[in-house]
Amino acid sequence: MDQNALKEKVSRAALEEIRGDVREDSVLGIGTGTTADIFIDLLCNSGIRFRGAVSSSERSAERLARQGVKIFDLNDVDGLELYIDGADEITESLHMLKGGGGALTREKIVASAARRFVCIADGSKLVPKLGKFGLPIEVIPMARAQIERTLLQLHGAAGKPDIRLRQGADGKPFTTDNHNQILDVHGLFFDSPVTMEEHLDGIVGTVCNGLFAKRGADVLLLARESGDIARYLRPV
Ligand code: A5P
Repeated sequence: MDQNALKEKVSRAALEEIRGDVREDSVLGIGTGTTADIFIDLLCNSGIRFRGAVSSSERSAERLARQGVKIFDLNDVDGLELYIDGADEITESLHMLKGGGGALTREKIVASAARRFVCIADGSKLVPKLGKFGLPIEVIPMARAQIERTLLQLHGAAGKPDIRLRQGADGKPFTTDNHNQILDVHGLFFDSPVTMEEHLDGIVGTVCNGLFAKRGADVLLLARESGDIARYLRPV
């Protein structure tokens, strides 16, 4: 099966995963990305009734609103039962790298508000160890060079990390929904993902990093190439 078919397959599996937990007064946390897009479209046509959604990006909010879903501000809801989103990389411990779509900060905020994080991914996203994809870090623009200097001190066996300022389609620095910029960092080591996330969280001027280890997913639904759906739970 091709990757799009796998994304659709796993999104359908996610509907069955959440169906029993969604009530008419539920507000759902909804993520960002091509897998989330497919999930949104299927959710909106599933017949599942729910009150509305908190979205991790303007892009997903628009897609949901176009299909009649009421969008809530996270400040106006009392926590979320569920957050459904994709990942760029995920391990069997359900630690993730996210932020390929640039929505990492809002994704981490909405995920932290949710009781259960259901990650949906095609088989290419499952990795033995995080890091090949590169780590997106959202930064306050005035702090960018200072943060780069700090990151360059994080030597690993492969030497200094490779740091790129993300560019948009127009060739200018990509701007997040929060009006910040993104550094994509390759060459960091994620042997201890929680420790690394804590370290990165401490760098002044960063808004958020795309390492989701402290609050990983609770459930991973993974569509393998064969079309089978594997279900992983976060190790206790
Ligand atoms: C968005 O910022 C990302 O974290 C996405 O959740 C992640 O990149 C997965 O995206 P795809 O479903 O498009 O692969």
